[in-house]
Amino acid sequence: MEVVIVPDATAGGELIAEAIASLVRRKPDALLGVATGSTPLPIYEALAGKVRAGAVDASRARICQLDEYVGLPAGHPESYRSVVLREVVEPLGLDESSFIGPDGSAEDVQAACEAYDRALSEAGGVDLQLLGIGTDGHIGFNEPCSSLASRTRIKTLTRQTRADNARFFDSPDEVPHHVITQGIGTILEARHLVLLATGEGKAEAVAQSVEGPVAALVPASALQLHRHATVVVDEAAASKLKLADYFRATYAAKPAWQGL
Ligand code: PGA
Repeated sequence: MEVVIVPDATAGGELIAEAIASLVRRKPDALLGVATGSTPLPIYEALAGKVRAGAVDASRARICQLDEYVGLPAGHPESYRSVVLREVVEPLGLDESSFIGPDGSAEDVQAACEAYDRALSEAGGVDLQLLGIGTDGHIGFNEPCSSLASRTRIKTLTRQTRADNARFFDSPDEVPHHVITQGIGTILEARHLVLLATGEGKAEAVAQSVEGPVAALVPASALQLHRHATVVVDEAAASKLKLADYFRATYAAKPAWQGL
């Protein structure tokens, strides 16, 4: 696992956007797995800026979703499908046909989960999966004690995650209890995992994920099992890492051609 400590969220966004641009230059139809929440927004802004400036042609890139609320009506502005279309697909100048995601309003949720897992494989697998991290260590909506081998399935949100996400809804009661999420086993099949965490509130979860034991109690610790996982953190989110100086020195000495 590589840990990169950046000065702030903007620098993290720029660094990851450049890694995505470099992937898309190598593989124009790359399948990019995107995350929702506040943290990845600087990545999407930086990437859209590169597209507008002509620094990368993302017109053949494909976008896929990490997780989704269950039961929000189709087209609800806070469904993650709507969020990804608004924050990623449209700003990159792509249209809906370049996007795949699970159907959170399906009658048969289990079938929708299985269909999405299959769709990811049939699309050739995810080339780069962006991840955020919950204050409880979740990735996607894999809450603590999710199986490290799990596939896309329905999960129940913890009280803490519902409270963390209440800011996106008119009232806390509107946050759905149930979600569809790529499983940890599904996430681990992506060719490159890139987790961005910013702010003091994520410091404990980051330290446990990077330096603690691999444990279902801390879902993001599963990144330790992946051959190409990159964790980008700002100074505040890095503040509880015991090996911070080592991570800084390693990245400072890294040949630029290696990228992330
Ligand atoms: P956030 O969400 O980026 O809004 O903090 C992260 C997550 O819950 O995965």
